[in-house]
Amino acid sequence: MIFGCATVGAIASESESAKTVGPNACAECHKQEVEAWKGSHHFKTFRDMPRDTKANEIADKMGVRRIKYDSLCASCHFTLQQKNNREEPIAGISCESCHSAGQDWIKVHSGFSGKTILFESKAEAKERWKLADSKGMIRPRSVYQLAKNCYGCHVVPQEELVNKGGHKAGSAFELVSWSQGEVRHNTWHSKGRENVAASAARARMLYLVGLGVELETALRGIGKATARKAYAFEMAKRADKARKQLAEVAKAAPGVPEIAEIVKFGHAAGLKLNNERRLTAAADGVSQQLILITEKYDGTALAALDSMIPGPDKYKGVARKPPN
Ligand code: HEC
Ligand code: HEC
Ligand code: HEC
Ligand code: HEC
Repeated sequence: MIFGCATVGAIASESESAKTVGPNACAECHKQEVEAWKGSHHFKTFRDMPRDTKANEIADKMGVRRIKYDSLCASCHFTLQQKNNREEPIAGISCESCHSAGQDWIKVHSGFSGKTILFESKAEAKERWKLADSKGMIRPRSVYQLAKNCYGCHVVPQEELVNKGGHKAGSAFELVSWSQGEVRHNTWHSKGRENVAASAARARMLYLVGLGVELETALRGIGKATARKAYAFEMAKRADKARKQLAEVAKAAPGVPEIAEIVKFGHAAGLKLNNERRLTAAADGVSQQLILITEKYDGTALAALDSMIPGPDKYKGVARKPPN
């Protein structure tokens, strides 16, 4: 994972695919999470997208002959794994698309420091998570990295794909409503009995960091724009909307001065063509402030945001209910 890159995680690099273990390896211990995933568009796109008429139109325009094997589509729609020195699509958007390729951390995170759960000390558990993090694992507490992955795909920061291929310039994405519906798989700590929604404090962090990452991704996206066409307009619209929403949030939460800083960075570079250097610097500024926010706050003091955060009626798709 390289911080500050708009396509962090989203564009599966060769080194990522070499370390991908695949969702079956997670299923061994995380059955409930896998069942939830199987009910999502992320799972179904593997079978459905390549057969879709629109997909084939886009592929034709981009000169893509085999949708499943072309990294242009696979980087966002599929999980790739290296087998016999070539990359094979093995699933749709799966566990490792969001938690990062598992080979280096899978044993560490689940190993209880070589003991059993009862005999691992608190200090050892802390070391274990530190080690898993250092090996690239993206965990629920890493809200910024998780959000970077979602927006890296859902903003679609690829000019040709949009202007020439006619692909949508991203989704009407918002992190709370899009993570708490069909994507939700918060089942581990209740041993599969419940699939609980994010707490109020967590939802505030998801909302705030999500808006910030939307702005960051759109700024980088405009930086890449070369033509006065749909892609550039859509990216500029996204950035402008996000910085307006963030200005509202900054007003409601004066106790978090970093939000006002983000808004300033949002206005630090013109939303126009041929401005990549300044737009990238502005996006880097947004990124720094977001990381600070995740280090300093946990959402408990941000109740002023509650009226802005989309409620359950806005959740995208339905969260899976575990069997009793
Ligand atoms: C051998 C069993 C096992 C396998 C295989 C496994 N996990 Fe886990 N996983 C665990 C255990 C045990 C925990 C909880 C450890 C704890 O609470 O200290 C856990 C916790 C997690 C967490 C939550 C971390 C946190 O911060 O609370 C995530 C995310 C996760 N696993 C993802 C995965 C993914 C993705 C895969 C496949 C690449 C995977 N796991 C494979 C056993 C496993
Ligand atoms: C940067 C990530 C990204 C890349 C690269 C990408 N897609 Fe998508 N695609 C998405 C996202 C995100 C959606 C969901 C959009 C939404 O919210 O409706 C999507 C939706 C779609 C849809 C359904 C929506 C529609 O327009 O009807 C099709 C078909 C599709 N993609 C085909 C392709 C093909 C074919 C390629 C390769 C040529 C490709 N995509 C490359 C991210 C991507
Ligand atoms: C679309 C991205 C995405 C995918 C795909 C995904 N996760 Fe997660 N996962 C998350 C997010 C985000 C959270 C944090 C949930 C929250 O904020 O409440 C999470 C939380 C978890 C947790 C800890 C929460 C709990 O109680 O279970 C585990 C374990 C986990 N994921 C495992 C998996 C496994 C296994 C898969 C594949 C079957 C998977 N995830 C697929 C994004 C994803
Ligand atoms: C590797 C790229 C990728 C990542 C990472 C990713 N998504 Fe997606 N997501 C997609 C694509 C592509 C689709 C469209 C799938 C289809 O229907 O063909 C999609 C669809 C969805 C849908 C269903 C939308 C609908 O039309 O109903 C939801 C909800 C969603 N994503 C939420 C999330 C959340 C939340 C995260 C981060 C925690 C995330 N996604 C991360 C690529 C991604």
